[in-house]
Amino acid sequence: MKIIVTDTYEEMGSVAAQVVEVQMEAKPGSILGLATGTTPISLYDALTEDCKAGKISFADITTYNLDEYRGLPGTHDQSYRYFMDKYLFDRVDIDKARTHLLDGTNPDADAECAAYEKELADAGYVDLQLLGLGHNGHIGFNEPADHFPVDTHLVDLTESTITANARLFDSVEDVPTQAYTMGIGTCMKARKILLVANGANKARIVRDSFQGPVVPQVPASILQLHADVTVVVDKEAGSLLDL
Ligand code: F6R
Repeated sequence: MKIIVTDTYEEMGSVAAQVVEVQMEAKPGSILGLATGTTPISLYDALTEDCKAGKISFADITTYNLDEYRGLPGTHDQSYRYFMDKYLFDRVDIDKARTHLLDGTNPDADAECAAYEKELADAGYVDLQLLGLGHNGHIGFNEPADHFPVDTHLVDLTESTITANARLFDSVEDVPTQAYTMGIGTCMKARKILLVANGANKARIVRDSFQGPVVPQVPASILQLHADVTVVVDKEAGSLLDL
């Protein structure tokens, strides 16, 4: 595991963007696994800037997002489809038909999750998976548990995740209580993993995830067992690391 600590949040984004761009240059038809949340915004800004400057192209890139709230259509401003369009897809030269997210409006959870996992399996899984990190160590919406969930599945969100996400909704009652997410196994099948985290409130979980024991109570800790992981954190999020 390679851990890079940057001075600022913006630098975290540009260093992480370099990792994505190296992948895109090495394989212009790469399949990227993408994440939402506030953390990757500086990374998406850096990719957008480099695309507009003609340094990279998304023309042949395919994407699969990690997760989506259950019950929210893509037109809802808190859906992850809406987020991705706003922060990346509408700003770069990507073919939207190649951008994939779980369909939050499909009431048949089993069918939705199985179809997504199969599509990923048929595609050979992703070349590079981008991840953020929840305060409780979740990746995607894989919450702390007594086992590591393998495949794409439906989850009940924990109280702490609902509370953390409430800042983005009008009230905590509006936050969906369930979501569809790739499993930990799905993420681990990526050939490369890039995790970003910023801010002092992530410092403890960054340390527990990457310098603590590998346990399902800290879902991100399993990344220690992946052969090709790059972690890019700003100095606040990296402040408790023993480097
Ligand atoms: C988002 C996702 C989540 C976030 C995590 C951190 O697609 O899968 O695991 O990465 O909740 O969110 P932020 O970046 O908002 O702190």
